[in-house]
Amino acid sequence: MKILVTGGAGYIGSHMVKRLGERGHEIVVYDNLSSGYRDAVLYGSLVIGDLSDYGKLCRLFGKEGFDAVIHFAASISVEESVRKPLMYYRNNAANIFHLLEACLRYRVNNFIFSSTAAVYGNPSETPLTEKVSIQPVNPYGFSKMMAEQALQDTSRSSELRYVSLRYFNAAGADPEGELGERHDPETHLIPLAIRAALGSREGVTMFGTDYDTPDGTCIRDYIHVRDLIDAHLLALDYLMSGGSSRVFNCGYGRGYSVREIVEAVRRVTGAEFKVIETGRREGDPPYLIADSSRIRAELGWVPACDDIDYIIKTAWEWEKKLSSVQPQKHHL
Ligand SMILES: NC(=O)c1ccc[n+]([C@@H]2O[C@H](COP(=O)([O-])OP(=O)(O)OC[C@H]3O[C@@H](n4cnc5c(N)ncnc54)[C@H](O)[C@@H]3O)[C@@H](O)[C@H]2O)c1
Repeated sequence: MKILVTGGAGYIGSHMVKRLGERGHEIVVYDNLSSGYRDAVLYGSLVIGDLSDYGKLCRLFGKEGFDAVIHFAASISVEESVRKPLMYYRNNAANIFHLLEACLRYRVNNFIFSSTAAVYGNPSETPLTEKVSIQPVNPYGFSKMMAEQALQDTSRSSELRYVSLRYFNAAGADPEGELGERHDPETHLIPLAIRAALGSREGVTMFGTDYDTPDGTCIRDYIHVRDLIDAHLLALDYLMSGGSSRVFNCGYGRGYSVREIVEAVRRVTGAEFKVIETGRREGDPPYLIADSSRIRAELGWVPACDDIDYIIKTAWEWEKKLSSVQPQKHHL
């Protein structure tokens, strides 16, 4: 198959490209390198371009004849989205319109979308099924909700079918050590705690210790990036065999608190580091845990890496490699 991967130079997209390449698919990555890295694209060709460039997208679609699109490209920081909402509405919502228009024009009818648990907002139940009404609480979540809506309406009025995967907390790195998380600035807990363990940060900050959870800190469902990519491969097979449009949660169905992650990073790395306890961040729900029974039942997804120590170990190996290549001093 020939597959367009937008955002394929980024964290999750680059793992996708590697797995697709290993399976012998032809891949074209479309990425503006705003947060991605040229050297993370291990297979296929890289076209440097922005999703807002509809003309460029059309030329690419006309030339390549794609069988499917996997759309990772987006802006991903909740905190930044609160400061720059229009940037998020433009990049995550408006830009998918260009991609969908190109799909319709060139009859590419199979589309996989990177959605997020942030569409659920502050849910009142846990674990969360896909049936819970979506009520985002920040521009990032709203921008992804808008994209999901555009997909739903487009698929109702055309031949296009899509799978929207609502990722919970993607974590970990390529088990072979070739790829991993390289966000700048990094906002995710596991790489931040690992950097504190490596001594390249002064410590790690805990936002809120008075939540209504067993140890007072927020609980999240961490999913290894490899299992997330497996979900995409199953979604691709499903669409290619004519499956209808679906939305699936991607998480393991169990959560770890911030304190538990800090302890797990200490255990796996064997290093002590400072923890700074501070106030809550706005819009952080106490629990975000996926009920993933739908994807397990309908796509036959069986996670292979559901082990927090393994997730942290792969991320740690990656961070050690990264810090030996580009020594950095990170600040709190
Ligand atoms: N990382 C997570 O835990 C997580 C959780 C939920 C959802 N997601 C979603 O998964 C997707 C990938 O996330 P990631 O962590 O790999 O992020 P990332 O920042 O590492 O990757 C995003 C990629 O998209 C590219 N990009 C951004 N805007 C673009 C544009 N306008 N045109 C072309 N390329 C553009 C960037 O250069 C980068 O390579 C995103 O859609 C994100 O919202 C991620």
